[in-house]
Amino acid sequence: MSRSTRAIIDPDALRTNYRQLKPANGAGAIAVIKADAYGHGAVFVARALGAECDCFAVAICEEAVPLRAAGIVHPVLILEGPHDAEDCNIAARENFILMVHNRYQLNWLSKLSDTKRPRVWLKVDTGMHRLGFAPDEIATLFEEYQWLKRTECVLASHFACADEPQDDFNTHQFARFNEVAETLGLPICMANSAATLTQPMSQGMWCRLGIGLYGASPVNGVSAEEYGLVAAMQLKAQVIALHNVARGESVGYGRDWVAPRDSVIATVGIGYADGYPRHCPSGTPVIIRGQRAPLVGRVSMDMITIDVTGIEGVALQDDVELWGARLPVDEVAGWAGTISYELISRVSSRVPRDSR
Ligand SMILES: Cc1ncc(COP(=O)(O)O)c(C=O)c1O
Repeated sequence: MSRSTRAIIDPDALRTNYRQLKPANGAGAIAVIKADAYGHGAVFVARALGAECDCFAVAICEEAVPLRAAGIVHPVLILEGPHDAEDCNIAARENFILMVHNRYQLNWLSKLSDTKRPRVWLKVDTGMHRLGFAPDEIATLFEEYQWLKRTECVLASHFACADEPQDDFNTHQFARFNEVAETLGLPICMANSAATLTQPMSQGMWCRLGIGLYGASPVNGVSAEEYGLVAAMQLKAQVIALHNVARGESVGYGRDWVAPRDSVIATVGIGYADGYPRHCPSGTPVIIRGQRAPLVGRVSMDMITIDVTGIEGVALQDDVELWGARLPVDEVAGWAGTISYELISRVSSRVPRDSR
């Protein structure tokens, strides 16, 4: 099998980013490895971080079970909590922590004895309005569900606008959250990557590190490099064809791009079925022979076309970087009208992951 399209994952970058983001105040740092570690491979990332990682988080129980099967022994937080009563049993057996956000979940857990009940954190809705109990409901829950007093409960919440540190809503959310936590004397877990970097007051006992761990910028308008973060994924493919295209000829579906001059066009073996975004317009940069070249024409399912006119020596099988250390994924996401999270987590299963 010869197509060389690959996502190359750098374990050193993951470790560097984890150390860079881990709060100096002693707060625990939870590595968020949901969605197959944002496309990087959950087991690979868990092993790369190894013993120095305090805890992992995934969205659902199904993502946590394979970690145990792979020998990962760390605490694992399930961000959506249980989806049914059986998830509670699995969590107890596998020592997962359930982040509980509704009464259905509390009722399933109430049916278990103290010794058979997994650890529970409570999710508070401070304004995201996605998951969680209302702040003024929390004290009542501790009365209704007495067993909560016997767990090492942590209060968790999630910022809606952490990527915009100046947004007043961050202060508003944290104030609501902290008031409940202080009244009940409970530890907190609120900060994601962006808040960990920009709102130290929210670091609390635990922070949850996702995008920054993978070396993309968590904060709008600030590059990953400025935060000392290093790209953990390089997406690369090779030139599979070269064509001379005369001025006035078009390239690709819909004849969207017409050569403004006699051009050399390289066809590269990656397309939207591999997770390269179909929305990338002509002009989106790639790196070939150490230089930037623009995408031209529409992205196809298995191929893209780039204009390599004037780049010395381009040849079949040349490596092309779609994003990575030399071309920030944040920049490509900007061209595609989306965010780095979507690009890295959507690299498809057709693309083998290799380690650097
Ligand atoms: C509940 C929750 N916590 C933490 C994170 C990690 O956030 P980030 O990737 O911005 O660091 C996410 C990411 O989606 C999340 O949904």
